[in-house]
Amino acid sequence: MNSNQLRGEYIRFFEGKGHKAVLSSSLIPQGDPTLLLTNAGMVQFKPYFMGEGTPPSKRLVSCQKCFRTTDIESVGNLRHLTFFEMLGNFSIGDYFKREAIAYAWEFVTQRLRLPLERLWITIFLDDDESFRYWRELGVPEGRIVRYGEENNFWGPAGDSGPCGPSTEIHYDLGEEFGCGKPTCAPGCDCDRFLELWNIVFTQYYQDRDGNRSPLPQRNVDTGMGLERVAAVLQGKSSFYDTDLFAPLIGRICELASVRYGEDKGKDRAIRIVAEHSRALAFLIADGVFPSNEGRGYVLRRVLRRAARLGRKLGLEQPFISNLAELTIEQMGDIYPELIENRVNILRTIQFEEERFNQTLDTGLVLLDEIMAKAKEGIIPGGEVFRLYDTYGFPVELTAEIAAENGLSIDLEGFEQEMASQRKRARAARKKITPEKGFVPVKEEKSEFVGYENLRLKAQVAALVRGGKTQQRVGKGQEVEVVLNKTPFYAEMGGQVGDSGEIKAHQGRVAVAKAIRPPYNPNLISHQGQVVEGTISVGDEIEAEVDAERRLDISRNHTATHLLHAALRRILGSQVRQMGSLVAPERLRFDFSHHSPLSHEELVGIQRLINEWVRQDLIVEAEEMPYEQAKASGALALFGEKYGDRVRVVKIKSPDEAISAELCGGTHTGRTGEIGICLLVSEGSIGT
Ligand code: SER
Repeated sequence: MNSNQLRGEYIRFFEGKGHKAVLSSSLIPQGDPTLLLTNAGMVQFKPYFMGEGTPPSKRLVSCQKCFRTTDIESVGNLRHLTFFEMLGNFSIGDYFKREAIAYAWEFVTQRLRLPLERLWITIFLDDDESFRYWRELGVPEGRIVRYGEENNFWGPAGDSGPCGPSTEIHYDLGEEFGCGKPTCAPGCDCDRFLELWNIVFTQYYQDRDGNRSPLPQRNVDTGMGLERVAAVLQGKSSFYDTDLFAPLIGRICELASVRYGEDKGKDRAIRIVAEHSRALAFLIADGVFPSNEGRGYVLRRVLRRAARLGRKLGLEQPFISNLAELTIEQMGDIYPELIENRVNILRTIQFEEERFNQTLDTGLVLLDEIMAKAKEGIIPGGEVFRLYDTYGFPVELTAEIAAENGLSIDLEGFEQEMASQRKRARAARKKITPEKGFVPVKEEKSEFVGYENLRLKAQVAALVRGGKTQQRVGKGQEVEVVLNKTPFYAEMGGQVGDSGEIKAHQGRVAVAKAIRPPYNPNLISHQGQVVEGTISVGDEIEAEVDAERRLDISRNHTATHLLHAALRRILGSQVRQMGSLVAPERLRFDFSHHSPLSHEELVGIQRLINEWVRQDLIVEAEEMPYEQAKASGALALFGEKYGDRVRVVKIKSPDEAISAELCGGTHTGRTGEIGICLLVSEGSIGT
């Protein structure tokens, strides 16, 4: 049975048992901050397990893309992968132990026809109920092994969430794969017993501190590694020999003119390169982008590890995108996102690999020197940091190379260097924040009424000068004016603050810009200078925004949204906004992309924006609950915190939605007001 047939059989079998088939979710968990990458089939169903939301059915089945960062270092052995597919059936408060066990047994013994004498069962220590069900199905007592939490308790998937005791089906590959120890049994570290299927009875919720409480209902979460089962079905001792990996291994051997199965060290390198290149294609297809933190760092680590090992195999030229292309060909039918993001996958890999290759050789020479000098077998943290900072060596990579040479690294020293680098960066940013503990006007809140009005009567709520509140401020003095309500937009979300005038009976303040002061972000403070007479707390005033300047800013803000939309159309929807500046005279849009834009791309983007400008489309803003905005597909800034209610700015043409973004900024009423938008420069800030 090839892997495609296996996937199909599994889904059909459970559909036959009343399960609804659900597509794999993205490797980037949606709305789940507890988790970096999707690491199990249950991740997309977590809320259902906790009794939140209504599942499409109480019985679900899926084949889920998973990535386990904890296994990166183990890849190269015969049983661990970073990226893998997990077959799983789920009961959301429906069937429990008896059915879950019976279904699994029926599938394994009747559909897959695995030989009974090779199957072993593990159960949680005191789970006599499961023991009874397995016995009823004819599993001999001697084949059922009891384990504690280490083996037979699963979850939570992140630092908190649903979890529970489990029972597993293991496959005995034969004594020849074993360690020969008398204690060798399922769960042993050696290669004899392969865990095929984990059936979790998800009954508890575990919080961050490890406390467990019962869930409102009893659930079942099962997971079977597709690659492992394929190996067993195809009579192979590892998944690298199955139809899933054999083509990749073949391509690597061809490119590097080596043979698989002749040299242990090389075999390991070949396996790692194959595994990592496949994983990279899937990560990028789901929108992960190389960076120095979070998911992007995982991607970078995996790519750089593969690049280095490829180099060891004699691959001098970039080769990973060639392998990723094979994965796209091989698996694009099942995961169309691979095909849809083909260009992006290949370019991202190519660019990142080239960049790393440029420093790899010099870095390796340096590392050799460092290793030759390493006293007591430990590489100092400062050197590890230098390799990281200057040559892009992920710390794990340096550790791995060190280990190959019988050395270790001073991880603590490295962390210290990292911490002081972060501190320096923070200090550089800090200069603009005021003294700590300074809260001159803490209770006030300013109402912003400037979407519709540019001029308005209001009252002076407070005056601040030199960090102190004042009753009255006179001509020539710098001042921050706080009003009860204001038409001035305060600098936020990339849009600069408005300037204008505040007119009182006795005096006038020229406002240079409105900001939300760091000591109270609910406040809008008008920074400026008294240019005539005096101004006092309690004054009835007229606040007037510089309308020309505001219109320029709004034009640039609406153009920013059009630019964002055009980038997504032309470069692909993986483009992610990293920041922006919206000023009266220009706009700047920061986004992630793997390479500089070509002239054609830039021209295409500019043309598209101006087409939308000429169509004079309506720009409208609507308030709605955050959940609704997200569900409608409105773009939010990654990592930004939003309140329960958000404002969504939409630009629509009669036949399609051009743009929808969560945004508090000011905009033109129609795109035609922009006039024209010209791209004058494009560049990389480097990461
Ligand atoms: N969540 C469990 C696992 O990952 C069973 O699906 O093993």
